[in-house]
Amino acid sequence: MGSVDIKKQAPNVARMKILGANVKEVTHGLATLKEAADAAFDAYAREYKDAIYCIGSVVGPHPFPMMVRDFQSIVGIEAREQFVEMTGELPDAVVACVGGGSNSMGMFSGFLNYPVDIYGVEPLGRGTALGDHAASLKYGTEGIMHGFNSIMLKDENGDPAPVYSVASGLDYPSSGPEHAFLHDLGRVKYDVISDDETIDAFFTLSRLEGIIPAIESAHAVAYGMKLAKTMGKGSVLICLSGRGDKDMDYIIEKYGIR
Ligand SMILES: Cc1ncc(COP(=O)(O)O)c(C=O)c1O
Repeated sequence: MGSVDIKKQAPNVARMKILGANVKEVTHGLATLKEAADAAFDAYAREYKDAIYCIGSVVGPHPFPMMVRDFQSIVGIEAREQFVEMTGELPDAVVACVGGGSNSMGMFSGFLNYPVDIYGVEPLGRGTALGDHAASLKYGTEGIMHGFNSIMLKDENGDPAPVYSVASGLDYPSSGPEHAFLHDLGRVKYDVISDDETIDAFFTLSRLEGIIPAIESAHAVAYGMKLAKTMGKGSVLICLSGRGDKDMDYIIEKYGIR
């Protein structure tokens, strides 16, 4: 785990350590998600006979994107079934945040073959300048990293660009290859939400529903609320990919209570 994210998500680190994990700190580069993924794969490549590589997102070489997509698709299938059971119909739109792309890929898998508008939400961070966001599908071009070919944010040498998001889990310069495919097909619309809109949505969901979302998920909440205003009537299913317990200390320290 990157040292920056170890500080930002201290409760997650404490939880992992209590459960017996040995958390290795990655300090080079931006010391965030990309460097951690590099380091994990590097360690695995050196010890592959005795080690098992696990990844929670739809990135990396085949078959990892496919495996993670299939595991996560349970959420999409169950969400579709439950939505129909509760409302009698499909949602008009489905929204999920996209970092590496696993929660969204799982959710979207349940709806790709149905007449539903699908939106992937990427982090616009502080703005559109390279280095201020991590919206790879919106602003990137074809590229290869971590053993997969997808759409990537690149620097002037064609290497993965430095990226930024308030959400540690979205701070990644590419997304899984199936997202690039859906992007090129036009089946999923990829759009962006800024840090400020995200923090507003974090507090809005907390106050109105008593649900404290992860900062990553708050991107989807912000987009869902914006989208709803344009729809007149209809329903939006938002993927709440995680709880915000891990983010509470960081939010209070950086933004205070709003
Ligand atoms: C709660 C939460 N949501 C979303 C993400 C983004 O990852 P992915 O795009 O693979 O779902 C993360 C990553 O750490 C996360 O912690």
